[in-house]
Amino acid sequence: MKNNQINFFKSGDFNSVLKPLEEDLKTFREKRIVKIENFEVKETAKELNIGIFGWYAICPSSELKKNKIFYFSMYDEPLLLFRDEENFVRCVKNVCPHRGASFYDGDLFNGELTCPYHGAKFTSEGSCKNVDRLTCSHIVDSNYKNYAKKIHLYQYKTLEKDDYIFINYTETPLTNINEYEKGFEINNHELSKHGFKIDEYVSEQVLVDFKCDWARIIENHLDILHIFWVHGDTIPDKDVNKNVLTSFNQKININKEFIESIYSYKNDPNKEFIRIKFIPPGRILIYKGDPSISRYVQVLDHIPLGNNKARVIVRHYRKFLKNKIFRDLVLFEEIQRKTFYKIFNEDYMILKTQTYNLKLELLKNDEIKLLGEDKIIKYYWNWYKRSEEKDNPWRYSKKIENNMDVYDNLIFKYPPEINKLDILNNLKIIRKTLIRYASPLIFFFLLI
Ligand code: FES
Ligand SMILES: [Fe+2]
Repeated sequence: MKNNQINFFKSGDFNSVLKPLEEDLKTFREKRIVKIENFEVKETAKELNIGIFGWYAICPSSELKKNKIFYFSMYDEPLLLFRDEENFVRCVKNVCPHRGASFYDGDLFNGELTCPYHGAKFTSEGSCKNVDRLTCSHIVDSNYKNYAKKIHLYQYKTLEKDDYIFINYTETPLTNINEYEKGFEINNHELSKHGFKIDEYVSEQVLVDFKCDWARIIENHLDILHIFWVHGDTIPDKDVNKNVLTSFNQKININKEFIESIYSYKNDPNKEFIRIKFIPPGRILIYKGDPSISRYVQVLDHIPLGNNKARVIVRHYRKFLKNKIFRDLVLFEEIQRKTFYKIFNEDYMILKTQTYNLKLELLKNDEIKLLGEDKIIKYYWNWYKRSEEKDNPWRYSKKIENNMDVYDNLIFKYPPEINKLDILNNLKIIRKTLIRYASPLIFFFLLI
């Protein structure tokens, strides 16, 4: 304890303690300020031409196995994915068109879904194969052929690109997706269109579910200021440090397909520190340095599972440490995962409380006080507000409020409390270390 603090307890002299503390706090704050200077905005379009409806990356291709159903939701609309007989991905509304049961616990075989309630069987195109089962037509209903035309699955368009499965989430699903309709294009999301060639990189990914507002997570990932403050001790980069004053120039590019914020070093303006690109509705690219020479690019996909439920897929593309054997030996993937869980955890409490404040209407999107360097956040919220009003994606959430616990168990694939993922990952590290390093030693000692 400092001398003046001891004096305070003896004499009750406030100033002798508070003044030095105030000074400490002042220098402490000054040290942590990140200065954004020379702010520049380049607009080639007034606004983004994509709204909240559009192409979303839902999961990495490897997550969707043949004859397995992948459950999820979009804005609380229950959905599922599966591969049909030709390996084409189908995205189906998880509501049986007969009497509204979920397909959970039903059958999927060779692209045909069977409802667990009355056994209606649907082809992957969406039509019902066994209407007789539903109508008992031979006993009661002579008009079942008309009925057969009406009962069908509801589907959204899908596409696989860059080892991701995308769906085109729109106002209304389709009743029939045929062979000739499968060649969809999603130019804007294709990674090669964004300045880096993915075959020059190796990649790993992490998936995490959050119980908080989807739009707030995107905001967090667009925000550079918090990186130094919240993740300063976790991110292994000498420029991301709480105790160093860093000055950057910021440039924002706005066009029809994305908004982008580029931070370069004030003392070396030609050198980029970081570039953050938002491609609506749910993708963010973060480049470490200029995209053409960047050795590290992060692709973040945000999936709006529902009201205060969201999933994030982070894939990191690297040009270094490409050797798989070496990576496996040093458990690189698991250790990197650990860092990611820590970073997510550092954000999670803030996101949860922010979501809570939002729910109480203490925080309205258009009322938050934005500073100059928050310009990209402002563009983002303007886009969000406009798109939400236009597209109205929350059409199902209003009805269900928070009564979706049954479906939560299905859609939360990656535990929303990140610590659980971290514990599982730690166990994996221990197990692999034992198998790789301890067991050969034990074997050796047994031999001698
Ligand atoms: S609810 Fe699906 S077959 Fe009846
Ligand atoms: Fe963060």
